[in-house]
Amino acid sequence: MFSPINTILTASLLTLTTLTSVVKAQGDLSALNNITSLTGTWSSGSGGVQTGGSFCNPQNFSFTYPTTTGISYSFTDDGHFEEAQYRYNANPADPRCITAFILWQHGRYQLNNNGSLSLFPFSADGRIQVQDPCAAVTNLITYYDQMVMFQDWGIQVDSIKASYALQLNAFDGKPLPPLYLVANPPNMLPTVILTGVNATGQASKRSLDEDEEVEKLQKRSGAISERGVGSVQAVAGLIGAGLLMMTGLMGL
Ligand SMILES: *[C@@H]1O[C@H](CO)[C@@H](O)[C@H](O)[C@H]1NC(C)=O
Ligand SMILES: *[C@@H]1O[C@H](CO)[C@@H](O)[C@H](O)[C@H]1NC(C)=O
Ligand SMILES: *[C@@H]1O[C@H](CO)[C@@H](O)[C@H](O)[C@H]1NC(C)=O
Ligand SMILES: *[C@@H]1O[C@H](CO)[C@@H](O)[C@H](O)[C@H]1NC(C)=O
Repeated sequence: MFSPINTILTASLLTLTTLTSVVKAQGDLSALNNITSLTGTWSSGSGGVQTGGSFCNPQNFSFTYPTTTGISYSFTDDGHFEEAQYRYNANPADPRCITAFILWQHGRYQLNNNGSLSLFPFSADGRIQVQDPCAAVTNLITYYDQMVMFQDWGIQVDSIKASYALQLNAFDGKPLPPLYLVANPPNMLPTVILTGVNATGQASKRSLDEDEEVEKLQKRSGAISERGVGSVQAVAGLIGAGLLMMTGLMGL
């Protein structure tokens, strides 16, 4: 049952190692900041994870699992972004306890004067599903609302892939894997608030009814929805650990 996971992990390790040697640029990428060319859909590795389409349906709390792990961001030239991630965290202490998480959020982005890039999600729309075979609750879908800060970013031409490569450096300066341009104009869900009381063109009465529908669907599918703020923070902590793990891998 875990052999596909092992294969994916090995593959992503190889990818990360290869990619970090391709893109050595770290630190100051301001010369490569080009707002015009930020527009589009960007995806890591072979492009298996992409924003838009059916990756996430925030209305009924569902994800369509891609066949490979990865990261994707889209940006519009009018200040909107979308984020999609599907990742595994290895557990060195117990290899059977590999955690998978899939997350999606969208909202607005801002280019700051010091070269950093901030993402401000629409808080009602973000979703995350965590699969932890060793936890009491093994299949948790909940809200996800995580402001993101990239210290620096830049776009280069990757001559091996013959593609534009977006380099994002995390808040602490650690580079993410390069993201390749896969679509321009970007593939995104509508860049408006899609769920909750502030949803565009949606009365709050109707969204309450939909929430009830969601509960029913989730009972049927066996997925568990946790709507408490506490759980969101617990999950955010887990993601923090995941990012640490990821940057750990990239240091190899
Ligand atoms: C920015 O990107 C656009 C689109 O790729 C390109 O046409 C333009 O020349 C770039 N500008 C600079 C200053 O590199
Ligand atoms: C959520 O809605 C989409 C689109 O209507 C549908 O394809 C999908 O099966 C639904 N998922 C669940 C879990 O109800
Ligand atoms: C860069 O600017 C942003 C927005 O003003 C700020 O939040 C961030 O702390 C700044 N980063 C540094 C390294 O000064
Ligand atoms: C809806 O919009 C109001 C006014 O901007 C804001 O105060 C509130 O926090 C929003 N609610 C949600 C769930 O986003």
